[in-house]
Amino acid sequence: MNMMINTVEKFSLKKVITMVMMVALVFAVLAPLSAKSAHAAIPDGTYGIDYTVYADGTNNASYMDNGEYSVKPATLIVKNGVAKVKVTLKHKDWIKSFKTQQNGTYVEATTTTSGDTKTFEFPVSNLSTKLNAQIHVVVPASVAGVAYDHTYTVQYLFDEDSV
Ligand code: HEM
Repeated sequence: MNMMINTVEKFSLKKVITMVMMVALVFAVLAPLSAKSAHAAIPDGTYGIDYTVYADGTNNASYMDNGEYSVKPATLIVKNGVAKVKVTLKHKDWIKSFKTQQNGTYVEATTTTSGDTKTFEFPVSNLSTKLNAQIHVVVPASVAGVAYDHTYTVQYLFDEDSV
């Protein structure tokens, strides 16, 4: 009789352990997914969002990432589930063009100016991947030392966790 109870107890303990492990496994698999989908569903609203500008094709902060040129944070606007970002650059007269890559094509951002800054607004379809941007910068030789006229490609990466 005792043996039987032991067997029954062992059996059910095994079952319980197996179930606990299965539940843990399901959580381990689903938790990262649900964290991602939480990101995807930032409610409509306007937020400050941190970002880094990367030198083209690298994981190094670009020359233009520093506070002398880029104003931080950027502004994230979510409307009807669609995300747009506004970034602001200093020295408005130096930034002749600001394009972001949208579905494979470089598209000029919507531009506004304020004081000596220029703000560029563009859609961001995926906040967790780098976005290519092309910036045409012209700095007078009197400031740069030599005539400075370059079109650069950089990547913007926004930090969803900072929202
Ligand atoms: C007085 C003004 C400026 C000077 C003297 C200057 C100088 C330079 C120099 C020497 C480089 C080459 C650096 C290297 O290859 O390591 C460079 C690259 C670059 N500059 Fe400028 N720059 C000026 C203004 C700007 C402005 C206003 C922007 C944009 C807002 C800008 C964006 C870039 C970018 C994107 C690169 C490519 C390398 C990278 O992404 O780090 N620069 N600049």
